[in-house]
Amino acid sequence: MKKQVKTAAVLFLLACVSMTSCNTSKKENNNNMIEKVSFGKLPDGQETELYTLKNASGMEVKISNFGGTVVSWTAPNNKGVYEDVILGCDSVSGYLKGVPYFGALIGRYGNRIANGKFTLEGKEYSLAQNNGVNALHGGLKGFDKVLWTATPIEGEEPGLKLTYTAKDGEEGYPGNLSVEVVYTLQKDNSLKIDYKATTDKTTVVNLTNHTYFNLNGNLDSDILEHEVTLNADKFLPVDKTLIPTGELKPVAGNVFDFLKSKKISAGINDTTDTQIKAGGGYDHCWVLTDSTKTLKSAATVYEPKSGRVLEVLTTEPAIQFYTGNFLDGTIKGKNGIIYKHRSGLCLETQHYPDSPNQSAFPSTVLKPNETYQTTTVYKFSVK
Ligand code: BGC
Repeated sequence: MKKQVKTAAVLFLLACVSMTSCNTSKKENNNNMIEKVSFGKLPDGQETELYTLKNASGMEVKISNFGGTVVSWTAPNNKGVYEDVILGCDSVSGYLKGVPYFGALIGRYGNRIANGKFTLEGKEYSLAQNNGVNALHGGLKGFDKVLWTATPIEGEEPGLKLTYTAKDGEEGYPGNLSVEVVYTLQKDNSLKIDYKATTDKTTVVNLTNHTYFNLNGNLDSDILEHEVTLNADKFLPVDKTLIPTGELKPVAGNVFDFLKSKKISAGINDTTDTQIKAGGGYDHCWVLTDSTKTLKSAATVYEPKSGRVLEVLTTEPAIQFYTGNFLDGTIKGKNGIIYKHRSGLCLETQHYPDSPNQSAFPSTVLKPNETYQTTTVYKFSVK
């Protein structure tokens, strides 16, 4: 009897020791720690950084303080294999060569403003015409090309807080604009992006993220067989310079109808459609059916071979669906891969393009004492 008690006590002690060592090793291997490495130097000698956010299930998102750029993002396929599912470059030097906004934060005004001009409170403002006659994505040095101040947020759901203050007059826009963007990698394999901004003069703001997704996990492929759902019953037809005409056109009965899941290839080359012709494919803003400012599902993308599913939720009223039509095989990205035509798709949650010139569109005006605040979530799963 005595011997049995002794054995039990020894076993209990051993169990305690092994539990403690398990806990310790879990802490040592804590994959929630945020790693920071150099991402290379800017021409003026400033260092840029690359932060790695990891969650417990193994998803890894790498973000640079240069442009607040999401550089890589691994997601599991239906066999549990994690692969990079976004376009990007190996170091900051790649981004300086003029890549089309891969993974970047876009501002102060995402998308186009007609003729690079708008009038606010009776004053006309002129912007750089960096896209034909129009202004695109914040100008010559938009938020995608500036160095943000980064603060890691450790925890089970690790994050990166990025702040940047755009000066009054920077890129032609009025008001000192203080911007804060927080990326949070959540337990459920989603990346949440919280945007906030305040100004000291009336201005216009439309912030988004410009990640190019390719759910194949093989970035040397196109996105044509991806199946897309857009919870939007209208879209904004554009003129030949891609400025909305002002019409909100029902998607019913044309190739812009993604209310039910559909392969991108089904309509993207239908050049009998004048809008497909104008965009060289899909490069349009869809108006979400649910116009409330709540976080609602805007889009879902499914890639049948890998089984990967990406859902996009947003508080914004619209989403620009761009199918990488201007990618032309001249950019060499991560690991030497050449990004061919339509090798990535963007789902840029936002307000409507050219809103500063189109008073019927929901307003993008931000006044002093107001706070601009939006949230978008990109969530991965498998089917
Ligand atoms: C625009 C495209 C543009 C791309 C990269 C997208 O948001 O809609 O027209 O080519 O960004 O610049």
